[in-house]
Amino acid sequence: MVEENSLNTQLSEAPVHESSTRGAGPSIRISAASERGATQPAAETGTVVELKDVSCFYGSFRAVRNVDIKVARQRITALIGPSGCGKSTLLRTMNRMNDLVPSYRAEGTVLLDGQDLFARGVDPVAIRRRVGMVFQKPNPFPKTVWENVAFGPKINGYKGDLDELVERSLRRAALWDDVKDKLQQSGMALSGGQQQRLCIARTIAVDPEVILMDEPCSALDPRSTLQIEELMAELKKDYTIVIVTHNMQQAARASDTTIFMTMGEDRAGYVVEEGETVEIFTNPRNQLTEDYVSGRFG
Ligand SMILES: Nc1ncnc2c1ncn2[C@@H]1O[C@H](COP(=O)(O)OP(=O)(O)O)[C@@H](O)[C@H]1O
Ligand SMILES: [Mg+2]
Repeated sequence: MVEENSLNTQLSEAPVHESSTRGAGPSIRISAASERGATQPAAETGTVVELKDVSCFYGSFRAVRNVDIKVARQRITALIGPSGCGKSTLLRTMNRMNDLVPSYRAEGTVLLDGQDLFARGVDPVAIRRRVGMVFQKPNPFPKTVWENVAFGPKINGYKGDLDELVERSLRRAALWDDVKDKLQQSGMALSGGQQQRLCIARTIAVDPEVILMDEPCSALDPRSTLQIEELMAELKKDYTIVIVTHNMQQAARASDTTIFMTMGEDRAGYVVEEGETVEIFTNPRNQLTEDYVSGRFG
């Protein structure tokens, strides 16, 4: 239990601030994700996470208001919008990570496979196992590569072959070839891109349904960024991914569905428009979306 708490503490230490990398530009290449063809229409795959009239508060400040969205299974959903509009807050509401902020409170309903995440008796630690999270800054534990991946399964009482699970998780995170001879070296000694893939391997190792990624590439170089995007395309065969990104090319390239948020005069963030990524970027219904994706605002 002590270890479990320390895991949460470490996870909660991830920064909540924004980087200011901004990729808006007129020549955005649209939706390689749908071109890859592996994507199924949302209606056929079902909803994993559903938010109904969700508002999020820090003390008396309402950071997010009245959000109704559905996250489709085995698709990549991108959450975009200007800095401070509540993307991270909303993302962290989907696995109760924000409970770790004392002043935080959510209203409305968040369903995971139809189960109310905020219902009495729901264990947030169990939820975070089903809905894993990858942060902006790679945050491997100060432990060996092997331990980084084995840690979660161990504290969850995994009974199988840990070496096998570590290898499988590292392979799925496209990291095995890089680290197979470095399993006993510190995870912190890897490159930034490798560290982020290690964090993804760590998340996969406990076999979540959903992986939340909060600007996972903003600290990475372009090559590492592309590797993560390719990895996401692989992972969506088995997992549902929700990614917050500041980089609109990334949203356009990597996601199937895009949710555009902005904020009102009261600074409360809200969802303007949600749809197929290609629609949001080429034929948005709302002028605010159009202005944002064309780089006129944001
Ligand atoms: N821990 C916190 N305490 C108080 N206010 C916060 C906290 N985290 C975020 N906020 C505020 O909530 C709003 C939304 O923040 P955030 O979710 O980080 O937005 P985004 O990820 O879109 O940049 C901002 O006004 C921010 O200042
Ligand atoms: Mg954020």
